[in-house]
Amino acid sequence: MRHTLRGFLCLAGTVHLVLGAAVFNWPDPLLDSLDHLLYLTATPVSTLALNCGMRDNSTVAAQWLRLAYHDMATHDSTTGTGGLDASIAFELDRPQNVGVGMTISLLDFASVPNQYVGKADVIAIGAINAVVGCGGPAIPFRGGRIDATEAGPATVPEPQQDLASHVASFKAQGFSETEMISLVACGHSLGGVQQVDFPLIVTEDVPTGIQTFVSTVGFDNTVVKEYLKGTTENVLVVGSNITTRSDLRIFSSDGNVTMQSLASPETFNAVCVDLIGRMLDTVPSTVTLTDPIEPFDFKVWNTFLFPQGGSLAFLATLRIIDTGLNRTVTMFWKERTGTFCPAAGCSIPPFKVSTDDATFLATVKGVMAFKSHLFNATIDLATSISHFWFEVNDNDGSAPFIVDNHGANYTIDHDVVLYDPRRSSVTEFDGWMMVVGVKDPSTSINMTALTTFAGKTVTVPFELDSSNPSTDGYTFYTSQLRGPTPTTTVLAAVNGTAYSLWVPFMTTPGV
Ligand code: HEM
Ligand SMILES: *[C@@H]1O[C@H](CO)[C@@H](O)[C@H](O)[C@H]1NC(C)=O
Ligand SMILES: *[C@@H]1O[C@H](CO)[C@@H](O)[C@H](O)[C@H]1NC(C)=O
Ligand SMILES: *[C@@H]1O[C@H](CO)[C@@H](O)[C@H](O)[C@H]1NC(C)=O
Ligand SMILES: *[C@@H]1O[C@H](CO)[C@@H](O)[C@H](O)[C@H]1NC(C)=O
Ligand SMILES: *[C@@H]1O[C@H](CO)[C@@H](O)[C@H](O)[C@H]1NC(C)=O
Ligand SMILES: *[C@@H]1O[C@H](CO)[C@@H](O)[C@H](O)[C@H]1NC(C)=O
Ligand SMILES: *[C@@H]1O[C@H](CO)[C@@H](O)[C@H](O)[C@H]1NC(C)=O
Ligand SMILES: *[C@@H]1O[C@H](CO)[C@@H](O)[C@H](O)[C@H]1NC(C)=O
Repeated sequence: MRHTLRGFLCLAGTVHLVLGAAVFNWPDPLLDSLDHLLYLTATPVSTLALNCGMRDNSTVAAQWLRLAYHDMATHDSTTGTGGLDASIAFELDRPQNVGVGMTISLLDFASVPNQYVGKADVIAIGAINAVVGCGGPAIPFRGGRIDATEAGPATVPEPQQDLASHVASFKAQGFSETEMISLVACGHSLGGVQQVDFPLIVTEDVPTGIQTFVSTVGFDNTVVKEYLKGTTENVLVVGSNITTRSDLRIFSSDGNVTMQSLASPETFNAVCVDLIGRMLDTVPSTVTLTDPIEPFDFKVWNTFLFPQGGSLAFLATLRIIDTGLNRTVTMFWKERTGTFCPAAGCSIPPFKVSTDDATFLATVKGVMAFKSHLFNATIDLATSISHFWFEVNDNDGSAPFIVDNHGANYTIDHDVVLYDPRRSSVTEFDGWMMVVGVKDPSTSINMTALTTFAGKTVTVPFELDSSNPSTDGYTFYTSQLRGPTPTTTVLAAVNGTAYSLWVPFMTTPGV
């Protein structure tokens, strides 16, 4: 297989505003986490498939795209069951799912999910990054898939099955015969057939052990063009074993009409965006997906409120898409009780403005970087804080404007149960020592940390923290989380009132 080492850079310059896109109303742990994975953070799912990088003499991207299809192929459109639900994790021992690519892809994603983002969402993000990573178009992402807890039916199509079975399989999965032709062509734009797994299909020795579908590497319609020209080496078209020429039967099933329509690169890309998008959004009927998630114009994150030296410290970050403007951003807030701030609110400038790299997927959408404005406010302990907002001046002659959570303000529900990033610590030996301050606790306090990792939920109770004496009206409790703890929700009952506090892991810059 030839591997061209070119950067699969797309022409940027597209506008990021997309009609009907999901709106981020802070706080929203699901959208917050998904936005991070899609557009901000370098994780395996955003980096491993870049530049259509090779693995097992195929590509990481090909392995991820096949994984997504096989996971989804358990869908039954008549009963509304199955779909992209990560049931593949329970189905790897089936001949349908043979291949090291499946196991290794699931391992790629193992560290990424948290208690809000399941494996299935990560598999979908992986497929999207696979396609753009190989120079293909950006497929919109919707989030909120729910992970299956057991295997689905063994309904992945196999090459030795006849055309009627394949038509029936795709119909059950929600695709017409024409869509079947296109979706297989889109999928078989990448990768190929491994001889070790399919010795009856790859009958002639290939030096790399894999007979690729296409002579070039990259997500494009070369698979279609080589098929129509008769130069294809796709063993599912021209292999010596006629029984397993499933791509030939599928591609030619309508007299090549659909394949001819895909000879246009624009049509191929548009059709693949639509069909792979639908494939990824095929979920059990009980699941509701979010609107497509595009990079948010404004995102508040990394907020921490905690007692410190006779005051409350309040840290917050406002992220804005970098458009090259040198903006002036001011944070405002109002007190929870009484009067402390002026009528217009207390205000401070950021103590730091940093430029954060965007992921490759974000750059494909025209977002090259983000500007993070970090604030460190000292809040009067007695009057506390009820809500905050921002004023942004683009310094380009336009009027300053308010960023206030779409009119709702950024509201701080309470100051009773507070995660304290300063008193907390993370060490290799002790894990995450979470320290939470509780205001005026009675004897009746029941607080646990709830973490989900790799599908397992762990709850660890908090205990009175003897190393942090009570101060400023807060008593401190500690909980020790060992092992990987991507994010945690603190659940507390204080005097019978329930509190829930989401704490994203390790997002505590400069504290
Ligand atoms: C009748 C339907 C299909 C059949 C019979 C079929 C069959 C196969 C077979 C036998 C392989 C070789 C796997 C290996 O050696 O690891 C393969 C690879 C692949 N298939 Fe399909 N496939 C079908 C549909 C699809 C669809 C709909 C997609 C995605 C949209 C897809 C994506 C892929 C990808 C990306 C690979 C390459 C994997 C790699 O190189 O690691 N396939 N397919
Ligand atoms: C062709 O493939 C089918 C299905 O895997 C298999 O049963 C058959 O033995 C193969 N034929 C040859 C000649 O290898
Ligand atoms: C990849 O192909 C090379 C020959 O080009 C071969 O030596 C190597 O074993 C193959 N690697 C895998 C993982 O199959
Ligand atoms: C479809 O295209 C293939 C590949 O070029 C060719 O072998 C086949 O005869 C064509 N079938 C029809 C019905 O045109
Ligand atoms: C941005 O503006 C501030 C003050 O308005 C100025 O101090 C700073 O140098 C400017 N930065 C750039 C990169 O222009
Ligand atoms: C948001 O905060 C401002 C300033 O305190 C206040 O005037 C406004 O009523 C608040 N809006 C909502 C929806 O709470
Ligand atoms: C909890 O109850 C105790 C005893 O009634 C009271 O002193 C304390 O202020 C209460 N704490 C909160 C946070 O309501
Ligand atoms: C404490 O909270 C946990 C989790 O919310 C709950 O399972 C447990 O029953 C509670 N314990 C008491 C004594 O209320
Ligand atoms: C925030 O301000 C306090 C008080 O001035 C200071 O002690 C602390 O280091 C600051 N934190 C950060 C993250 O800058």
